[in-house]
Amino acid sequence: MSDDTVVTSMFDRVGGATAIDRLVETFYERMDTLPEAQDIRAMHGTNLGPIKHVLKRYLTEWMGGPKLYSSERGHPRLRQRHLGFPIGNAARDAWLVCMQGALIETVEDEAAR
Ligand code: HEM
Repeated sequence: MSDDTVVTSMFDRVGGATAIDRLVETFYERMDTLPEAQDIRAMHGTNLGPIKHVLKRYLTEWMGGPKLYSSERGHPRLRQRHLGFPIGNAARDAWLVCMQGALIETVEDEAAR
């Protein structure tokens, strides 16, 4: 890589903290309202505030932004953290319906999506 190469993180490319905020709010809004997401919504607590906070921090770090997740929660260990929930193909598909719609609504850059 030459010295003048500028590396832009995915975090910056999609619009930084403001974009992650909108993405995660829209994701859980969809989970909260779409009939096909009812079962996965029920796996979460009544108050979605705490998990919104965690997913925002996780995605920020995963996309190359500040390390907000691991400084608060350590290694993600996402497989282990999900083991206690009954996640089959239908749950997986419902999660993706929420995330795909949220990405379309909040991230303009199609290639980045
Ligand atoms: C396959 C479908 C999925 C379902 C049904 C699901 C469901 C859940 C549930 C029920 C929780 C616990 C919420 C709580 O503590 O109140 C959780 C936590 C979490 N999920 Fe998922 N999830 C899925 C996929 C994913 C994917 C693909 C990612 C990453 C992009 C992800 C990231 C997270 C994170 C970061 C947490 C919080 C972990 C922590 O406690 O530090 N999930 N998920």
